[in-house]
Amino acid sequence: MATHDAGDKSGGLDASVRHELERPQNVGIGMANSLADFNPFRSPSVTMADAIALGTALAAASCNGPVIRFCGGRLDAAGPGPETVPEPEQTLDSHIESFKRQGFTQTEMIALVACGHTLGGVRREDFPLIVDTSAENGFANFDGTPRVFDNTVVKEYLDGTTTNPLVAGVNVTTRSDLRIFASVQNATMQSLASADTFSKTCAALFERMIDTVPGGVKLTDPIDLVENKIGGAALFTSNGSYIFRTNLRRLSENPDRRVTLFWKERRTGRSICPAQGCSAQPQVVFNQAATRLAKLRGQNSFPTYAKFEAQIPVNASISHFWFAVDENDGAGSGSKIVDNGGAQYRIEQDTMLFDPGRTSIVFDTEEVRFRIVVGVRDTEGEESASKVSLKYFRPGPAPTFVPIVKTVELGPDAENTPADGYTFYTAEIPADVTAFDLDGVVGGQTFRQNVFKRNGAFAT
Ligand code: HEM
Repeated sequence: MATHDAGDKSGGLDASVRHELERPQNVGIGMANSLADFNPFRSPSVTMADAIALGTALAAASCNGPVIRFCGGRLDAAGPGPETVPEPEQTLDSHIESFKRQGFTQTEMIALVACGHTLGGVRREDFPLIVDTSAENGFANFDGTPRVFDNTVVKEYLDGTTTNPLVAGVNVTTRSDLRIFASVQNATMQSLASADTFSKTCAALFERMIDTVPGGVKLTDPIDLVENKIGGAALFTSNGSYIFRTNLRRLSENPDRRVTLFWKERRTGRSICPAQGCSAQPQVVFNQAATRLAKLRGQNSFPTYAKFEAQIPVNASISHFWFAVDENDGAGSGSKIVDNGGAQYRIEQDTMLFDPGRTSIVFDTEEVRFRIVVGVRDTEGEESASKVSLKYFRPGPAPTFVPIVKTVELGPDAENTPADGYTFYTAEIPADVTAFDLDGVVGGQTFRQNVFKRNGAFAT
C-alpha cells in the first residue's frame, strides 16, 4: 500500500508488487514467497490484493493478535506502481514524508512500523549489510517472540534489550526503526507499552492499511463469520441413486448438538419423503483449521462442521434442503430451523451436474491434471446433442502471477458409460485451477454451475 498517494488517491493495496519484484525495495525471497503462498487462494472472486489483505488479518489472528476487520473488493493493478516503498537506509524525514503521502501521521507511522515488526525479521542473504554472520539460520528477528503478535518489540526497545536489527544492527545507516521509534521523544512507543493499547492501535491501523486502495475501488461491507454456513455441496449419481453431499458449519462447539438435514423431492408423482421432508444424520462431525485458529486465540468455543451424505432415489431427486439444529442444552428450546431465512437452500437444477464421484486426478510424467466429469440428464424425446463447456481460472505462475482464464469444451466420456439417466462429458484441466464455471446447452435450454476448489477438492 506504500504506493498510495492520499492527494490524488492513486496507488494503494493493489498487488502491484507482483510487477515490482526486481526493485531493490522488494529485494529477496520474502515478497516472492508471500505472493506464492497467497496465490492458490485466488479465484474469479478473490484477487491477489484481497488475498494479501486477508493474509494480514489471518497472520494477526493466528499469531494471537487482534481481530482485524476484513472487507473484500480490491482490484489487481495491471502493472507496476511508483517506487515509493520505504527502505531502511533512508532518512527519518523521508519516512515521515512517505507515510504522510500514504495518509498516515508521524505518530501513526511509528505505531504501524512497531505493529508490523512484531512478527518476523530480516534475512541476512537479502540484507547482508543489516544482518551479520552471528544471526542464527541467517535470520535476525525483530523481537524475542517473532511468531507472536504482541508488544515485545516495543518493550525490548524501551528497556534497552532489543536485538531488532533495524534498531541495534551493526550498520547505523540502516537503523530505520531506531530513528522512527525514537522520534517524538519515544512518546508513541511509551504509549504502546500497554498491551491493550498496542493491540487496539495495531488493529485500527491495520484496518486502515489494508483498506488503503486506489480511488474508484469500492470495498464490500465487512465480511463477518455467519452463524450457519453451508459448504461442500454436490449432487451426483452413483449405483442407481443420487448422492447429495453438504455440510453445515456452526460457529460454536457443542458436543450435545444434534443436526438433521431435511430435503424435499424435486419431481412430483410418487412421494418417497414423508410430509415433513426426508432426513439424514451427519456422517461425521469434524473440526478443521478454524478450530485450531480459535484454540490458538484462547477461545473455548469454536466452529464445528456437520457433514452429510444422503442417498436420494433418482426418480425423486431434490429441489431444496434445510436443517434442524437442536442444541440439547437443557434450555428446552427444542429444534431451530436453519433454512436460509425462510428462502431454503435451493438446488436450482439437476439437468447438468458436476460429478465429484467420477472426477479423478490424472498423474502423468509431465504434470498432474484433473479429469472433470459432468453428468447431463437424458431428456425425453430430445434429439439435439448437448453442449457443455467450462471456463476455468488458474491463479497464474510466478513472478507476475497474472491469472490464466480459459474455456474448454467437454467431450463424450468414454470411461463413464451412461447410467441412472445421465450421459457423461469430460475434459482435463490443470491441477492448479481453483474454480470453474460450467455452461451447458441441454434441450435448447442453458444451464450454469459454479464450482470451487476447497481443501483440494471441487464442490459447488
Ligand atoms: C520505514 C518503514 C519500514 C522499513 C524501512 C521496513 C524495513 C523492513 C526490512 C528491511 C525487512 C526485512 C525483509 C526481509 O528480510 O525480507 C522488513 C520485514 C518486515 N516488515 Fe518492515 N519496514 C517498514 C515498515 C513496515 C510496516 C509499516 C509493516 C506492516 C505494518 C512492516 C512489516 C514487516 C514484516 C511483517 C516483516 C517480516 C517479514 C518476514 O519475516 O519475512 N514493515 N521490514
